[in-house]
Amino acid sequence: MRIRQCLSGLSPYIPGKLVPGAIKLASNENPLGPSPRAMETLRECISRTHLYPDNACAGLREALAVKHGLAPENIVVGNGSDEIMMLAAAAYINPGDTAVTARETFSNYTFVTRLFDGEMNRAPLCKGFFDLDALDALVKHAAPGPRLVFLCNPNNPTGTYFGHSALENFLKKMPPETLVVSDEAYADFAEAPDFPDSLSLLPAYPNLLIMKTFSKLYGLAGLRIGYGIAHEDVAADLLKAKISFSANLPALAAAQAALEDREFVEKSLAVNREGKAWLCAEFDRLGLPYYPSQANFICIDTGRDSRDMERRIMELGVTIRPLASFGMPHSLRVTIGTREQNRLFINCLEKALTE
Ligand SMILES: Cc1ncc(COP(=O)(O)O)c(C=O)c1O
Repeated sequence: MRIRQCLSGLSPYIPGKLVPGAIKLASNENPLGPSPRAMETLRECISRTHLYPDNACAGLREALAVKHGLAPENIVVGNGSDEIMMLAAAAYINPGDTAVTARETFSNYTFVTRLFDGEMNRAPLCKGFFDLDALDALVKHAAPGPRLVFLCNPNNPTGTYFGHSALENFLKKMPPETLVVSDEAYADFAEAPDFPDSLSLLPAYPNLLIMKTFSKLYGLAGLRIGYGIAHEDVAADLLKAKISFSANLPALAAAQAALEDREFVEKSLAVNREGKAWLCAEFDRLGLPYYPSQANFICIDTGRDSRDMERRIMELGVTIRPLASFGMPHSLRVTIGTREQNRLFINCLEKALTE
């Protein structure tokens, strides 16, 4: 068999390591576990798993429409927000088309673009931040304009963000035929007062697609459920490319229940806030530079080979993410955990640094 040429150069996604006995702070999951309301609903709906799920995802779309003050026609539910990225590429990338993103960001944007035989053009971050001017220059350089621009806000793996007026100015400059995909997988954790209210920009910019997920704040990563928010024409285009029943029945029910779980959401945000402050104080004490994070993880520069550090910290009982594959060979990304997990991580890090 001869594999399609566009697939031959693709490297597989490297997930955070799950090591028996070790604490996993490698994939930015919720350290408190899943939302209890979601778990309760899962137990109730397990007896209905012989049934296909609602292909239209009507209940969840309706609930999300109410939450965001939009219509269900503006919402596309997917098998994780990973599927929404895939749908954007499937809907808009023809072979040879281009897309634009940052160099040090979530690798799936490049994966989905290449999967549909598109070409990805990437601009380096500027001091750890998305460089919207550099992205705009790449957009202007491409003729015809790129079909997709992927923004990650807050950015994985740095946790840095850009503000509302930066996003709005960027959208003003984009050709109307270029879809700007704003991946807000971690936006639930953002506290900066000028963090974009991207939903408010949708009416003026029908070429904006916002992606959100239940994997992080709601603790449902294993169920695979996320969604896109867009102008109804864009949403309809994405739905044309969607595989039937990709969002499964337990995931749909659990996500809808999790939306109502205010107590869990508040607790998760508080744990993250407190953990972030504590970890940053520890990194200061250890003299390790880190980026200011608006997410549920922190990116630190240990000045050492990140894979060596990962190996040693893992032997000591914690898995974290080395960022060599992001082009940051001396940096690590650690998920903000519970108080105990953060303490253990700092102990391991300190040991690994002093060896
Ligand atoms: C920036 C970013 N976007 C999207 C995702 C995928 O989210 P989901 O679990 O909804 O597919 C991740 C997962 O880690 C991520 O880091």
